Amino acid sequence: MGDSSNPTPTSDDETSESRPGWLNVASVSELRRARTIVIDHPDHEPPPESDTEVGGIVVFWNGGDPRAMANRCVHKDRALARGTIFQGKVVCPGHQWAFRFDDGHCAERERTQPVYAVVVVDDEVWLDPRAPANLELLTTTERHG
Ligand code: FES
Repeated sequence: MGDSSNPTPTSDDETSESRPGWLNVASVSELRRARTIVIDHPDHEPPPESDTEVGGIVVFWNGGDPRAMANRCVHKDRALARGTIFQGKVVCPGHQWAFRFDDGHCAERERTQPVYAVVVVDDEVWLDPRAPANLELLTTTERHG
């Protein structure tokens, strides 16, 4: 942790009161056991006109460095929660596009998956679901992708 997409908390006593809008995902031990947890959120439901039921934000344990992405792949709507983690990327189970955890980018396809900020405070994992942390890159690559 520590980059802009995954900020490090500044004190040990931060809570949802000091982080309004953030969601408590789970305890660190719960996420370690589960490996991935999908958080449902009204802003991340599947599009009503689509055939997919995949939505939410998936939080990955990622070897103790929790990261979060939109669960629905930007390519063909498969669930990244069912993907494989490899060398700092999540590999989609649909067509094996590999999205970097840091910025959500898949260099081979010039497409970008939304990523969300995650912090660990007092052994609890917190997620900011309100806006992608990689909005600038997301806007650029998805407009031209
Ligand atoms: S659905 Fe994810 S790479 Fe195709």
